[in-house]
Amino acid sequence: MTNPLAGKDILTSDQFDLETLESVLRWTEMMRIIEQTGRPCDLLNGNILTALFYQPSSRTFGSFLSAMQRLGGGIIPIQNVDYSSVIKGEDLPDTIATFASYSDVIALRHPDNGSSLIATDATEKPIINAGSGTSEHPTQTLLDIATIENYVRRNGRSRKELVLAMIGDLKNGRTVHSFLGLWPTYTMNSSTVYCVSPESLRMPIDLLRNARNAGLEVEETTDLNEVVGLADVLYMTRVQKEWFKDAEEYKEVKGEYVITPETMERAKPEGEMILLHPFPRVDEISRDVDSDPRAQYMKIQIPYGLYTRMAILAAVLGVEEEQISGYIED
Ligand code: NCD
Repeated sequence: MTNPLAGKDILTSDQFDLETLESVLRWTEMMRIIEQTGRPCDLLNGNILTALFYQPSSRTFGSFLSAMQRLGGGIIPIQNVDYSSVIKGEDLPDTIATFASYSDVIALRHPDNGSSLIATDATEKPIINAGSGTSEHPTQTLLDIATIENYVRRNGRSRKELVLAMIGDLKNGRTVHSFLGLWPTYTMNSSTVYCVSPESLRMPIDLLRNARNAGLEVEETTDLNEVVGLADVLYMTRVQKEWFKDAEEYKEVKGEYVITPETMERAKPEGEMILLHPFPRVDEISRDVDSDPRAQYMKIQIPYGLYTRMAILAAVLGVEEEQISGYIED
């Protein structure tokens, strides 16, 4: 089978059919092995990634750079566009066209929802959406699902039976928007989803509609207590302060949901549920929860960000599966 993502852009989470998603999950596991055996790997030797970030980032930026270098590639890291010609008024297409001539792939984070689509018009090279406005963060979703797949495999669960609860700022959070876009494909259209948010931060109606049309059971509630004992996957998110026009409004909702050891007492036991968070966390998961074996954000989810981005970079840069498995078997 030839690599279905060779030369492709990664723009939205719903661009993945089940077969392509399975190949990303498979490649992610192979990358985990490559990373954990610590042997030098030159699969992407001779390729260069530009990481072009117009918004703050720790994990996405850091893991893209690490992923590229772990595979023997080079990097052009631009974490603060204020030190580039953007500050002189250069527009996105010119910036993209410029870095496309210096590199083979561009990971773009930008405050505008349509930014990665604009970027694809400026170059033939693959664009990876590393977070666009409030709309999409597809590589985060891939790593979230790879983390869940790891849990499913370790605990003999079926992905079809998973009950998901997404909590927090479901209006502005691009991670939850992308997540809901791919979740029907991963669960083969059979999951129940609870969307838990304050009234003012509800999941956009069109995304709810798409998930329901795909066959999911989707319910909205403001009450975390109602669903905490039902969920197999609890996906906690931060209230997205940067998108609030009114500081008072932010203050009113920011402390609405906090996961504490007491919350975890009401959740399903170890092996039957996991707690995820895309990070950064502000104060919506108490630090006392970190040592709970069900809390997977530090131990599994963050490392999987690296393995998944290694898989995505290798895929869009045209590596074939046999080349990766050759590395593992050598
Ligand atoms: C997320 C983002 O930038 O959307 N961060 C990340 O990439 N893990 C989530 C967030 O900022 O809340």
